[in-house]
Amino acid sequence: MIWKTKKHLLLCNKNYCSKRNILWLITILLWITVLTATIALLYAHKYNPLNHWWELQALRIPELIDSREVKQPIVITAWVREHEFIPGIKSETLGYNGTYLGPTIKMYKWESTNLTFINEIWEETNVHGHGLHVNGDIDGNEMQAIHNTESWDVEIPIVQQASTNWYHPHLMGTTSKQVHNGLAGLYIIEDENSLSLGLPNDYGINDIPLIIQDRDFENGKMIPYPEQSNMDSGRKSTFVVNGTLNPELKVPSGLIRLRILNGANARPYELYLPDNEPFYKIATEWGFLETPVEITKLIMAPWERNEIVIDMSDKISLELMWKFYDPEIFLSPFFPRARVLQLTVDSNIKNPESTLAKKLNTIEWYSSDDVVQERNFRLAGGMNINGESMDMKVINFKVKKGDLEKWTVNSPAHPFHMHGVSFQILSINGEEPPVEERWWKDTIYAQWNAELLMRFNHVATEMWPYMYHCHILEHEDRGMMWQFTVE
Ligand code: C2O
Ligand code: CU
Ligand code: CU
Repeated sequence: MIWKTKKHLLLCNKNYCSKRNILWLITILLWITVLTATIALLYAHKYNPLNHWWELQALRIPELIDSREVKQPIVITAWVREHEFIPGIKSETLGYNGTYLGPTIKMYKWESTNLTFINEIWEETNVHGHGLHVNGDIDGNEMQAIHNTESWDVEIPIVQQASTNWYHPHLMGTTSKQVHNGLAGLYIIEDENSLSLGLPNDYGINDIPLIIQDRDFENGKMIPYPEQSNMDSGRKSTFVVNGTLNPELKVPSGLIRLRILNGANARPYELYLPDNEPFYKIATEWGFLETPVEITKLIMAPWERNEIVIDMSDKISLELMWKFYDPEIFLSPFFPRARVLQLTVDSNIKNPESTLAKKLNTIEWYSSDDVVQERNFRLAGGMNINGESMDMKVINFKVKKGDLEKWTVNSPAHPFHMHGVSFQILSINGEEPPVEERWWKDTIYAQWNAELLMRFNHVATEMWPYMYHCHILEHEDRGMMWQFTVE
């Protein structure tokens, strides 16, 4: 029988058979086409935010609280709210003072800011100052829970240079969920230098914070974070910028400074302008570069920050574009592209005076000759570092205050983040990175081997240690994190 079938299929010199074979072939080809098209469509639907298209909406700008202009303590309450990602459709969210995300708090170098964080959500939370150079006892890490209905008073002395930083929950096991549902906000630090450079500095006018995140929606409602999450629960399909879907920002016709923060739970993004138009990168996570650097794309892992300047003076409008970036998926160059933000020039908005200074900062580069301690870390093959998961009872090692250390981090596709210190990048995969990537970072998307130089100037005791971890929140929650002291 089998033989007969084979023979039957192979006998192509007889008319009857060949016709039949051709028919078979056509049917099979048709099926393959239909199947491929369906898969492609499903895929495009899942990953193309423009499938969730609706009208452009004015970009929300988080309220600015300037520590110099308000009575202190500044009170920030984490609570359960409803947020309209689409006008008229309410989603259940968490927020700090508002319905989603929190106010931007402006602080100044050599000044202290008093804050009171109140917890009105149903479970414990806490508030970590991501990017702040502070001692472990006010870092807001795993050990500093704020119980439900309680509050946390903290005085933050700012001793670091101008930069854009974060606050967000940081309790193991609940960080992903709380951030996903809306808890995160910005700390902007200014100093003498940043205020005298003449850069765009009118908050919400030409100095714009952009918290970029992805979320899933059903009929316009944000799907809340799944109770039973897994490692990939943080990868969502639709862009949200400052809690706005499909945002448009009306801007004056001049220089626009964007403080871009990747606040996604898990996704790295690649940002660019159409036709590869260049723009200027002026700052990384912990402050200004020495000079503005012209670039055409920005790859940003979760919780990295970059400041860029775009010149709108000869434009009517401009789209800031995005595509998924995933070094592990070889199809990544073919991923759909979409608009993150529509910038539209509005001649009614008065153009505040600003310039792009040629020199932004002076950087003192560390020398590897001064390294007194080297450490190696591998973040791969499970939710651990060097094979061991986070254990709250274990201090993984102790650092001596003031020492220059060299850490070699091997973390394929895991954004590596450190508390309490900034690092300079000596090399990535054996090569010196471009100058705009090298300096003062606290989060790095190294892919393979990165050599980092860092000097520890703040204290973190056994009671209040520092953490370092993968900043994919689902990984951090599952123990891809260690802790250390500095004394
Ligand atoms: Cu953004 Cu350990 O933090
Ligand atoms: Cu942090
Ligand atoms: Cu990770």
